[in-house]
Amino acid sequence: MKGIVVYDTSYGNTKKIAETIAETLKESGIEVDLFDVKNVKKLSAKDYSFLVLGSPTRFGTMSFAIRGFLGKVKKEEWMNKPFTAFDTENPENIEKKEWSAAEKISEKLKDKKMNQLLPVMKALVLGQKGPLKEGEIDRTKDYARELAIKLKPN
Ligand SMILES: Cc1cc2nc3c(=O)[nH]c(=O)nc-3n(C[C@H](O)[C@H](O)[C@H](O)COP(=O)(O)O)c2cc1C
Repeated sequence: MKGIVVYDTSYGNTKKIAETIAETLKESGIEVDLFDVKNVKKLSAKDYSFLVLGSPTRFGTMSFAIRGFLGKVKKEEWMNKPFTAFDTENPENIEKKEWSAAEKISEKLKDKKMNQLLPVMKALVLGQKGPLKEGEIDRTKDYARELAIKLKPN
């Protein structure tokens, strides 16, 4: 079983979350490839058994690059495969459930009949450039450990 973790980032905060998820999955014995979305030229579902996709929240939704990546996730290839989604966003928006890149990504992947493994992870960033709020890396590690359990039920 090998998964792919894909993220977009402008200031590095979403990258840190993606790296933490990838490292924690690896520590749990799960193989993953980690990609900045800009470096994904071609996506082959044959190579991967699950997808973790993350974006900074911009104007209540995902970045243009992540929207473009979703066009490469072909329904006929990815349906029934597991996924989870994460984003970075500002704490003042946390109550606005729909105002979130991760929620929008989840909707798109569910439209492709993929299986959502966990509720989305919303990592909190202070201001536009960050840093991440204190404790968010530890919270991400917990999230990724939970994800590993879902991926390896035995
Ligand atoms: C143009 C722009 C629009 C943004 N819109 C939102 C938003 O709608 N909601 C929110 O919580 N944060 C918003 N932010 C803050 C971003 O979420 C923050 O810049 C991002 O998490 C940083 O991630 P990065 O370091 O990976 O680029 C916005 C930032 C920019 C630059």
